[in-house]
Amino acid sequence: MSSPKGSKKVNDWKEFVDKSKSATLEIVNKLKEQSKGFSMGKQSKSVNAVSSKKMTGDLFDKCRKYDTAEKAKELGFYPYFRPLESAQGTEVCVDGNKMVMLGSNNYLGLTDDERVMKASIKAIEKYGAGCAGSRFLNGNLDLHNRLENELAKFVHKDAGLLFSTGFQTNLGIIQALIGRKDIVITDKWDHASIIDGCRLSFGKMEKFEHNDMADLEETLQRCQGANGILIVVDGIFSMEGDIANLPDIVKLAKKYKARVMVDDAHALGVLGKNGRGTAEHFGLESEVDIIMGTFSKSLASLGGFIAADKKTIDYVRHNARSLIFSAAIPPANAAAALKSLEIIQAEPQRREQLWKNTQKMMDGLKSMGYDIGESCTPIIPLLFHENERSLEVVKNLPGGEQFVNLGLMPTDIMGIAFWRFASEHGLFINIVMPPAVPPGRTLIRTSYIATHTDKQLDFALDVFSKVGKQLAIIP
Ligand SMILES: Cc1ncc(COP(=O)(O)O)c(C=O)c1O
Repeated sequence: MSSPKGSKKVNDWKEFVDKSKSATLEIVNKLKEQSKGFSMGKQSKSVNAVSSKKMTGDLFDKCRKYDTAEKAKELGFYPYFRPLESAQGTEVCVDGNKMVMLGSNNYLGLTDDERVMKASIKAIEKYGAGCAGSRFLNGNLDLHNRLENELAKFVHKDAGLLFSTGFQTNLGIIQALIGRKDIVITDKWDHASIIDGCRLSFGKMEKFEHNDMADLEETLQRCQGANGILIVVDGIFSMEGDIANLPDIVKLAKKYKARVMVDDAHALGVLGKNGRGTAEHFGLESEVDIIMGTFSKSLASLGGFIAADKKTIDYVRHNARSLIFSAAIPPANAAAALKSLEIIQAEPQRREQLWKNTQKMMDGLKSMGYDIGESCTPIIPLLFHENERSLEVVKNLPGGEQFVNLGLMPTDIMGIAFWRFASEHGLFINIVMPPAVPPGRTLIRTSYIATHTDKQLDFALDVFSKVGKQLAIIP
């Protein structure tokens, strides 16, 4: 695996810093500002109020002034929107160079599976390229109905409902279910689409500390007297790969008369003996009221769904705005998801291989001395801790002293350095910085695929060993 063409060598840290001494600091400060505004509370009236004494400004001023991304690009540190020049397999082509892909949600390796691709082509030939409208009025296909029935059957629920993306699924279900006198309770680490669904609803939103059952119980106690309560959690948390404590959540939900919804975006096809997700993993399929999933991960496509009892699905079908007022999932995507679902059920060996690969990486990373947090799934984060020796290493690179003194948090410095070094060695990994994680918790997110070969994984472990030692992150 070679360095991406045009990417800067590790040693030109001086250039990296000199180009814009304050740019990185500015980027991080802006990110911090954004993360402050990320709180879920309602904005106060005084913030929203339009003062009649002030002249109206130009709405686009903020866009004209926005240069955070440009500055990051100038610095050679812009890990976003990287154009892949190949299918998203276990190796990808970036800037003409092969990289081992450790940043994908293609857990079962189906995005470039011949059978899935052929199913998409056949669907285009039969149904055309698009649906030309919402399922509600004119865009519904027999293919959509088939897929939602198959999905419901798969997760052992009475009925299913398709949406055009996973994001829209969470917007639609929460907005439709949570009325003015209802309360939705979320884990603080829930996905952004859940948070935005809560914002769209007319009800009240409460959050509990990540996977903290005592806090959930206190929150439920505070919420008693509501018209209805829904607890929504990710099954597998998308950034750190830990699993929701569903057994206790379900117990508390029963005690306090709440309903439970699990977002299984990352768990479908991955958790449970048959890949049916978090509820199957814990043997709680009949205790979870709503299972939500996306097609953009194990199902190798684009779209989303919920599955629940018939009456709930019927209500959401006729009240979810992101379903009714948005075009239907295109035939090619629906057919790809349907074929993937068939393969997931027919080939359990894929999931077995995914877990073998996951175990190999977990053992390898842990034995090297990496902190992988509470992960117990194919999403494995590398967490950084403040470490004088690592900062010394970066300081001693040409230009490193200035870089370290920019005022970044130590974990940001270590994350940025790690991402650069590992990328230059040919690993496609993701750096996750605030506001996607709390300040000080910058991490490298790695994720694994059933079709990764031992050779690719050994290569990755070798890079992690080299880079970790180089940066004194591991002994
Ligand atoms: C937990 C979770 N829920 C929902 C979504 C949204 O799904 P999609 O990207 O398929 O729209 C994601 C996407 O990353 C996710 O991680």
